[in-house]
Amino acid sequence: MAKIVASVNCSHVPAIGAAWDLGKTEQPYWQPVFKGFDYSKKWIADLKPDVVILVYNDHASAFSLEVIPTFALGTGAEFKPADEGWGPRPVPTVHGHPKLASHIAQSVILDEFDLTLVNKMDVDHGLTVPLTLMFGQPEAWPCKVIPLAVNVVQYPPPTGNRCYNLGKAIRRAVEAYPEDLRVVIFGTGGMSHQLQGKRAGLINKEWDNNFLDLLTHDPGKAAKIPFIEYVRETGSEGIEMVMWLVSRGALEDKVREKHRYYHVPASNTALGHLILENESFKG
Ligand code: DHB
Ligand code: FE
Repeated sequence: MAKIVASVNCSHVPAIGAAWDLGKTEQPYWQPVFKGFDYSKKWIADLKPDVVILVYNDHASAFSLEVIPTFALGTGAEFKPADEGWGPRPVPTVHGHPKLASHIAQSVILDEFDLTLVNKMDVDHGLTVPLTLMFGQPEAWPCKVIPLAVNVVQYPPPTGNRCYNLGKAIRRAVEAYPEDLRVVIFGTGGMSHQLQGKRAGLINKEWDNNFLDLLTHDPGKAAKIPFIEYVRETGSEGIEMVMWLVSRGALEDKVREKHRYYHVPASNTALGHLILENESFKG
């Protein structure tokens, strides 16, 4: 049967993608950002997932204010890098897993989570930057990737609790898929960041690190954090962190923290990174 064995959580700052694409990874500003992923690259190369379910948000690249799905699952065979104004990033096309994605759709919708199903969409920095951080610059991404886009751009976003429970529904769905597949789920975005207005540049290290502790040890408590607390404490874009609750819900209650990294600044944000493995997973 298929099994989600681990989660990877990380920021998806577009400037990180640009720094990589322009060969700036050794520059003093960017070196500490990429250093935080040295362990992670080796960890995922050893783990060799067959499929990544990648929870991210679209930043008005595939969707606009015309259509705002709360949860959109990519059921297509491929997803091209989006043109975000500077041309598409020079990264491989993402190959999906339509069979597993439609199985997840059926299971999760019958479990009463009404997903939007998307057969055709381009994927922006929210999805491609985490792939770069974890896999570098391969000819082709080394596994299938199922995109799951969450609306955290236009109010009202889903609650953290809804995201956490969606993660649990995804776990049930994957475990009911008959083929032996090793699946890793990514939660992306965050941590503290406010990109505009008077509070631009807001960083709350204490809150961010407490969130990382809760995510590992007491996710039920993290799931109860209300929308307004994310925005007040971590900035308007800090709400992206609810996506880390989807990935956490998809794991067992007890997990091993394999890697944690926190660094400021990356663009106007705090970069957070957390890898969790199910306690029952023997590697
Ligand atoms: C920026 C954009 C993002 O989507 C994000 O999550 C973090 C930073 C930016 O433009 O700097
Ligand atoms: Fe973002």
